[in-house]
This record gives sequence, structure tokens and C-alpha cells, in this order.
Amino acid sequence: MTSTDIPVHQRFNAHELFLQADRLEPCVLVIFGAAGDLTRRKLIPALYNLVHEQALDEHFAVIGYSRRPQSDEQYRAILFNGLKNYSRSQPIDDGVWQAFSKRISYVEGNFEDPEGYVALRGALEAVEQLIGSEGNRLFYFATPPSAAPVLLHRLSEAGLLQPGGAETPWTRVIMEKPYGRDLESASELNRIVAEVLQEDQVYRIDHYLGKETVQNILVARLGNTIFEPLWNRKYIDHIQITAAESIGVEGRGRFYDKTGVIRDMVQSHLLQVLSLCAMEPPVSFAADDIRDKRVEVLRSLRQFSSQEVLEHLVFGQYRGYRDEENVDPQSRTPTYAAIKCYVDNWRWQGVPFFLRVGKHLVQRMTEISVVFRPVPLCLFGRDDVCQDLEPNVLTIRIQPDEGMALKISSKRPGGEMEVGSVEMDFSYSETYTHPIKDAYERLLLDAVKGDATLFARRDEVEFAWRFVTPILDHWESAAKRQPVFYAEGSEGPGEADKLMDRYNRQWREIN
Ligand code: BG6
Repeated sequence: MTSTDIPVHQRFNAHELFLQADRLEPCVLVIFGAAGDLTRRKLIPALYNLVHEQALDEHFAVIGYSRRPQSDEQYRAILFNGLKNYSRSQPIDDGVWQAFSKRISYVEGNFEDPEGYVALRGALEAVEQLIGSEGNRLFYFATPPSAAPVLLHRLSEAGLLQPGGAETPWTRVIMEKPYGRDLESASELNRIVAEVLQEDQVYRIDHYLGKETVQNILVARLGNTIFEPLWNRKYIDHIQITAAESIGVEGRGRFYDKTGVIRDMVQSHLLQVLSLCAMEPPVSFAADDIRDKRVEVLRSLRQFSSQEVLEHLVFGQYRGYRDEENVDPQSRTPTYAAIKCYVDNWRWQGVPFFLRVGKHLVQRMTEISVVFRPVPLCLFGRDDVCQDLEPNVLTIRIQPDEGMALKISSKRPGGEMEVGSVEMDFSYSETYTHPIKDAYERLLLDAVKGDATLFARRDEVEFAWRFVTPILDHWESAAKRQPVFYAEGSEGPGEADKLMDRYNRQWREIN
């Protein structure tokens, strides 16, 4: 079928979506958790870069809301310091910051106290008047999951949650991960959300979905004809997904010790990446068509029994973790996990997915490696040549060296029949001059535009929790079981290699 064979109404839909995406309505962003790390390190730098590139203009303003008493000026000064340290584009353009910072104001209030919301309402109306934003409001919960219910109740009681996520004036809410602590609390949070908001007003953020290279997974699969026919159990031996970080908990001990790697990284980021690798092609790129397919993968993830958790998972902890500030000196919280799991559907039956994620590893490296099956028969005669034949591997490098590589076999030059592995490599930095934007830039802009494609839907978070909750239950009830300790700067615990050995596979090197 050529593109002209596509029925007219479908072509028109795609065009319409594009037009919608291009139209940006004025709005005010209210950040709860305005004094927190996420705001300083990620949100304000992302907004500054959007303003710098003129994606956001003078019809956009920010109100920070938190408990700390401070003036607008003091708040802006703190944000400016964060910007100097964390903005991807440097140096900071003073003119741009000065103009933008005038549209950032601060409201002091705690999450419980209705008085704070009265003050917030006053500030919102004044800013809306000033920038002509006509009541479009975006609330960002840059807070721990436990704060979400009270924020929703108080906002609703204060009359600040108007119905409507699409028609103007709109109200949308961005909610940070982790969305709940387990299946029960996530379902309960979804229930509370549904009492005060419609689903199209809710933007559950997982910043991995906003990464350029994570979006490239679908383009690599569906924008090329050569991969998709091979993308199944017939040709793929296994898939490895690695998210290695070189940093530790970075002063977030209090949060991390209660959270651990399964809630912090697996439930959200890793399962989203897995879904994009394993999902069926959607009927279109509209938000719900893509989300439907991601959800199908999460639904198909085989759930672990307690015995299987023992067999298929490795929990690790870096050696210095217990000495980190605000971490329990006896803590069992895992900072590393290796998991072998299965997607039980027609396409993937029997193909293991190996996930590996951890802090304080030798290097920062997030990648997906699709390891293909060996050739059915080696025709090159001698045994030693056949032993040199390695399987094809397609690697999608998410970060930091963004790109893709395909390992293939080729004849070594010379009279003898000798075979070696070579790599075809595409690197973003060598191919494109355009800088790779931070994921939060893309996601904040999408939320302002009303495009929820890269955000998790209600059922999506619940199915992800359904998979990880038995893992957490097992770990949290096995009080005597200690994580395996690994050296900082290593590739993780040796037990993770043994997990692979048991299935005659090998992790790719973290380098
Ligand atoms: C966050 C986690 O969601 O993702 C952090 O809370 C982690 O613990 C971070 O460090 C990793 O994100 P990135 O974009 O640096 O891979």
C-alpha cells in the first residue's frame, strides 16, 4: 500500500494532529515542590531552554508553590544558580533569563493548608491577567507520591481544577513518578484522580519517554522495512536492556532509601523502554493508539511467583550506600537489579528479556541490545571459522553516546576463509548538528500542547505495578535476605553474570 492508498479521512487525521500540535495556547504553570531538586535541576532549565528557543513566549508564566518563606527575588536567585549548573545550553543568556524570570513568581504555602490555596488562586488570577492566559492552567506535582492526594483534594476544594483537558480554558496536571508505591496505592491514587479530573487532564510523567533516543526505538522499528520482519521469536534470541548510572544517590538518600531501584527505575523507565521494544505496531501515532499497544505489553508480562523472584532476579547494593546521608545504616534497599522476564504473547513467547539497572556502576550507559539467533548452519567449512561467527546484535544507544549499531559478520581480507565481526555505527553527534534536547523540554511542551502520547495512561501505570508488586512483596517480606554488595565503579554484582550463565547468555560490557 502506498501513502496515496491511505483513506482520505486517515490522512486528514494525521494532518489535523500536526496542526493541533503546532498550536500553543498561553498558560500558567504552577509547580508544587517548587523548592525541590527536580525544579532546580530539570524543570527550570528545561523551561529556560524552551524560552531561549522561542518555543515558549511572554504568554507563559510560572508560579512556584512551597512551604519555604521567600520573596520572588530570592526564589529567582535560587533558580538562577540551578540554571547555571544544570542547563544543557551554556552560558546562560542574561537577557533571556531576565525576561523569563520576570514571569516567575512564588507563593508560600503548605500542601495541607487551605489558606495557601487562597493565596495561590489570587496569584494565579493576577498573573493570568498580566499575560493574557485566559485561565489555561498546568499544575506540576514535583512531589513524592504521598503528596498527590492532598494536593488534588485541596486544589479541587479551592475550585482550581476546572473540568476540561482539551477545550479552553483547560486545566491539566502533570504527576511525577513514582506514581504510588505499589499496585494498591497506585490504583487508589488513580481513583482519587478520577474523582476530580478527567483522564485527558492527567499527564503521568516518565521522562524516559521524552528522550529523543527512546522515541527513536519506534522509528528504528517502524521507519525501516528491514527490522520489523525479524522482530519476533523466530529471529531474536533475547533482548537486553541496561540502564547503568555512574552516580550514586546524590543527596537523595531520604527519598531513595524508601524507594529503591525497582520503584525508582524498573516500574517506570525500564518497563517503558521494554514496552516500546516489544509492542505491536499501532494503527496510528495518536496518543491512545500508541498507549494501547504499550499497555498490551505490560499486560503480557509474566508475573513472578516468590520462587521465580529468587531464580530470576538479583538485588544488589553498592558498598558505600549505607554510609550515605539519610540512609539507614542497616538498609536492605537495592540500588541494583538484574531481572530475567518474559512477555507472554504470540510474538515473544520464549524470548527472555534481561533487564539490568544500577547506581554507582563503572559508567553511565543506557542501551537496548537485540541479540539475534545464530545462523542455522555454518557453511564456511572449518570448525574454528564457525566458532568465530557471532550473532548479529542491534544496539540502540539511549545515552550518553546516542546512536545505533549493528554487528554483522564479514570475511576478513586474505586468501583464507576467515570471518570476523564488524559494526555499522550511527552516532547522533556525528550525524546531526542539532543538539539533543533534554527530555523535560519535550514533555513540558507536549503537556502545554495537550499531547499525552509520551505520558502514561491510568491502566499503563497499574499494569506496570502489577508486574513489579510481587517482586517488591517478595523482597520486603524476606527480611533476612541481604542484597548482594558490589564495588562502586564495577559492572555490578557477579551474581548478575551467573544469572546470564545459567541461560548460556552474556551481558554486554558496560563501556
Ligand atoms: C530518575 C530517578 O527518574 O531517573 C533517578 O529518580 C535516576 O534516580 C534518573 O538517576 C535517571 O535519569 P537519566 O535521565 O539521567 O537516565
